[in-house]
Amino acid sequence: MITLTDYADAARERLGPAVWDFVEGGAGAERTLAANLTAFEHVRLRPRVLTGLGLPHTKTEVLGRVWGAPVGVAPMAYHTLAHPEGEVATARAGVPFVVSTFASRTFEDIAAAATAPLWLQVYCFRDRTSTRRLVERAERAGFEALVLTADAPRLGRRVRDLRNGFLLPPGVEPANLTGTGFSAPGEHALAEFDAALDWSVVGWLRSISSLPVLVKGVLTGSDALRAREAGADGVIVSNHGGRQLDGAPATFDVLPEIAGAVSGSCAVLIDGGVRRGADVLACLASGADAVLVGRPVLHGLAAGGTDGVAGVLGVVTDELAEAMLLTGVPSPSDAGPELLTPTEPAA
Ligand code: FNR
Repeated sequence: MITLTDYADAARERLGPAVWDFVEGGAGAERTLAANLTAFEHVRLRPRVLTGLGLPHTKTEVLGRVWGAPVGVAPMAYHTLAHPEGEVATARAGVPFVVSTFASRTFEDIAAAATAPLWLQVYCFRDRTSTRRLVERAERAGFEALVLTADAPRLGRRVRDLRNGFLLPPGVEPANLTGTGFSAPGEHALAEFDAALDWSVVGWLRSISSLPVLVKGVLTGSDALRAREAGADGVIVSNHGGRQLDGAPATFDVLPEIAGAVSGSCAVLIDGGVRRGADVLACLASGADAVLVGRPVLHGLAAGGTDGVAGVLGVVTDELAEAMLLTGVPSPSDAGPELLTPTEPAA
């Protein structure tokens, strides 16, 4: 297991084809899914030599907490699809972890296993009372922030799942929601998500909890500013891993616009297609405070449980430290745009 591709290959052998498609797939023609990866392929980093700096460190402060590296786990539904222990095994890897509203293990069990910060990803239901219960329960369990997913008034049109008629296997269910009984994720979303949310939901979340709120799914500088004005403590630049609006831009391509718009007034995280340490460094250089990794974490979980998750995130962090050393960056906050070779304008 040397690169994340090795974990993906091992996971593919273990997960059935329909679960593999559910994890890997995107919306529509999967253009945005592909664009997230391609955006990083075009990055060229400018090395700096003979800097006299010695070995770098990867410690990073995010919302007042020190993370071992600027790398966390993106919220993903139903980790028990990948491993019987699900989110509990993921949490044991000891890396900051955004737990989905659709987690398949209870918040309390996940919190008991975690040694790094846990955040709750919130899908806001039309039934605000059940949303509020979810938030209160996570806060009581020790979760440290709320991540409002703003790009999913309903789930995207995932062609692979439609062709497979994908249903959750028996026993895989949302452990923190009561009485749902849906086994098609898209139907569940359609029935319960509030498709008419506006920016006032940020204030509502702040009013029901004392936790910081981040808005996930921001892809423009103007929306980042609106999030800030609405009282958000951070934004997560995300297109949901290409699973929502097919045709949305690659997250890495819009990161500079968003970081520039908020200019340090709130935390900026990014997810989508981060597969190597050099990708993380490119994100830091473009203004992100930290990145979240999605699918590869489920690959690690399927391939080797907690050790697999720790292995995946360890590869990314080791590669990041190496890239920092070779570019003369002593700590994550020292990465700036001068590290990136300007791309040629299109002919
Ligand atoms: C997701 N994602 C997601 N996002 C969210 O806000 N709530 C959720 O429940 C889920 N569930 C989910 C399940 C699966 C199987 C995947 C692959 C993704 C989106 C996720 O948080 C993130 O935005 C992307 O996965 C990041 O892209 P990469 O790293 O997978 O390319």
